[in-house]
Amino acid sequence: MSKKTLVLTGANGQLGKSIQKLWDAAPIHDCFHLLAFDKQQLDITDRESLQQQLNNLKVDVIINAAAYTAVDAAQESEANAELAYAINAHGPKNLARWAQAADAKLIHISTDFVFDGTATSPYPIDAQPNPRGVYAASKLAGEQAVLEALPNKAIVLRTSWLYSEYNSNFVKTMLGLLATRESIAVVNDQIGAPTSAGSLGEVLFNIAVSDNGNGIYHWSDDGSISWYDFAVAIQEEGIAAGLVAHSVPINPITTDEYPTVAARPAYSVLDRSRTEADFTCTAPPWREQLKLVIQHLADREQTH
Ligand SMILES: NC(=O)c1ccc[n+]([C@@H]2O[C@H](COP(=O)([O-])OP(=O)(O)OC[C@H]3O[C@@H](n4cnc5c(N)ncnc54)[C@H](OP(=O)(O)O)[C@@H]3O)[C@@H](O)[C@H]2O)c1
Repeated sequence: MSKKTLVLTGANGQLGKSIQKLWDAAPIHDCFHLLAFDKQQLDITDRESLQQQLNNLKVDVIINAAAYTAVDAAQESEANAELAYAINAHGPKNLARWAQAADAKLIHISTDFVFDGTATSPYPIDAQPNPRGVYAASKLAGEQAVLEALPNKAIVLRTSWLYSEYNSNFVKTMLGLLATRESIAVVNDQIGAPTSAGSLGEVLFNIAVSDNGNGIYHWSDDGSISWYDFAVAIQEEGIAAGLVAHSVPINPITTDEYPTVAARPAYSVLDRSRTEADFTCTAPPWREQLKLVIQHLADREQTH
């Protein structure tokens, strides 16, 4: 049987890199070819050239890992806000329109930030979004554009607190601070669920190969913690893996004590039940995934 084709956009992002790393050992490799494109190779905001390039391929599934993810910068200038909308809303719309014409499936990644954070139990997929900043609003606009342009073959997968061994993210920032500071202060009143890009990648593969599913889905690793709890765990796992030399005090602070340009949701745990049911998958415990990523970072350090 000939293999199908999966196009990955945003291949140089942390999710894009994680997907490529997982690919060869994943069962999806037996039935799909992966064509991974970074921003230079496939710019999702350039509708004409996007169409031309995709028309030359026989595409069955697209995973859109391309995004503008600078949450605070999006808020800082009109030009940045325009860029956020171009990449997070118009780009996904271009992909969805092409997929609709070509009868391809589009899996688009979105965010817990579409919610305002006033909930106290996990957000179901049909909870009312209420984005609190430009990045969040641009991501919601992207979701809506995708679902409208591709009503029968689009999956919008929201996730939260994404990290990996690649690029910049909270885990790598904390490891850097733990190596250089005598103490650190971390927000303890924002609750969410960390998600490793590896576990997200595995679920994306399940979705890609499945004939099931349409519409909005949620995914995170299992558990709900504060950024402070996450930082403490990063220090513990970092010490265990030999990445952090010694323990430094980590002090819990409030959001008010650490103001950011763009507001963050105080609570953003996502209800994964629809994803687990439709794609027969179970979320791994967040701590187990953290341990894995820190081990990968330690292994990488040893080989350098
Ligand atoms: N990071 C989080 O905590 C988090 C949380 C929830 C949801 N998400 C969502 O998860 C997804 C993946 O996030 P991530 O952390 O992997 O993001 P990331 O590391 O910032 O990667 C995004 C990639 O998209 C590329 N890109 C930007 N503009 C593009 C364009 N016009 N055409 C093609 N590619 C373009 C970027 O390239 P350049 O870097 O060269 O611009 C970058 O390589 C995003 O949809 C994000 O919104 C992330």
